[in-house]
Amino acid sequence: MNTPSGEKLALDGGQPVRTGPFPRRTPFGDREIELVTEAIRSQNLFGPSGRMVSEFERRFAALYGLQHAAASSSGTAAIHVAVGTINPDPGDEIITAPITDLGSVVPILYQTAVPVFADVDGTYTMDPEDVERKITRRTKAILVVHLFGNPCDMDAMLDISKRHGIPLIEDCSQAHLTAYRGRLVGTMGDLGAFSLQQSKHLTTGDGGMTVTRRGEWAERMRLFVDKAWTRKPGWGPRTYLFLSPNYRMTELQGAVGIAQCERVQGVVRRRNELGSLLSRLIEGIRGVHAPPVTPGGVHTYWSYPLRVTRWKPETFAKALQAEGVPASGGYIGKPIFLCADALCRWETFGRSGFPFTSPYVDGRRVYDESLCPRAQEALDHMVNLPVHESLADEDVKDMARAVQKVSAILPDS
Ligand SMILES: Cc1ncc(COP(=O)(O)O)c(C=O)c1O
Repeated sequence: MNTPSGEKLALDGGQPVRTGPFPRRTPFGDREIELVTEAIRSQNLFGPSGRMVSEFERRFAALYGLQHAAASSSGTAAIHVAVGTINPDPGDEIITAPITDLGSVVPILYQTAVPVFADVDGTYTMDPEDVERKITRRTKAILVVHLFGNPCDMDAMLDISKRHGIPLIEDCSQAHLTAYRGRLVGTMGDLGAFSLQQSKHLTTGDGGMTVTRRGEWAERMRLFVDKAWTRKPGWGPRTYLFLSPNYRMTELQGAVGIAQCERVQGVVRRRNELGSLLSRLIEGIRGVHAPPVTPGGVHTYWSYPLRVTRWKPETFAKALQAEGVPASGGYIGKPIFLCADALCRWETFGRSGFPFTSPYVDGRRVYDESLCPRAQEALDHMVNLPVHESLADEDVKDMARAVQKVSAILPDS
């Protein structure tokens, strides 16, 4: 197929829009090297007796205008710390999002609570009306996910949380320093949790951070990272106050984290500029829609989820790749509960099927296609473009040119 001007898709042997590679993301620099070196020279990489992790926690909290932050080993750990702080009883329910990483869900199951999924609205984040419909007498928390860098409708979520007296956890893994009506996500709910995995706005390779504005929960949050160990100085009888794992961060990650705190504002600002530029450039292309931005929110583009309505996302992504633009179809492909045997087949603790098979749980939990049809519909039309802060404006213009070209030539599927 050709355009009216005779242009051919690169897939069909035409000239690609882009021949050179896109710049690689380079999140680390001399400052990280300097601080990691300092950590190693200190001859101590153990967080609780070092300086780096505690300083990283202090600086991370300060970025959010908060007092309390607890570093951990991953985003999944950070969410587990938040859930463990709320301390559900077996069979309690936690409402969360169908489009997310499994790390938002695993901690709920490890605390033997039951994940309940609210469908998304046009922002790809949880629909407040569906959240409210899913509340039962067993609902212990609402765990919202600010997806792709786009904040949830927090006015509505806070209103629901307040009216029902249910704590709100914010999964900010994909939305560091993301503003909503002048406040930052992670500071509005009761607890905020962040992944610091390699792809995130602020990264320590792997790592996590949990924050809270609630002083009365800060101690339990900190204890949960460290086996609930009270850590009195010196040897002697030990006290572990409740069941929790070891999720401690090392001084190496703490050192990198300090340096990352110094650059994350620039990262987030640049991602917003580039994502917004791309949205302007593709405006009006038939069958292609820029990512929605929640009213009152500032998108920080952890990724750029394009919506395509005339093509299968894999077909569109393949045509973009041939044009030299890295693109992938469909993010997680299907709602997270259909991706995970721990949910759809109850593959949990041994062969027990716990907690689903236990008397603690109300009703029979079925995780199937009927639960979140709008999430499936969104994923069925999604193509992800890797917008990141190491790109130049020209790189994003090439992405837009490729989207324009492919949409003009590729036959509908
Ligand atoms: C929204 C969301 N939640 C949770 C996680 C889990 O984080 P981690 O992979 O650091 O455990 C991720 C990571 O990809 C994520 O994107």
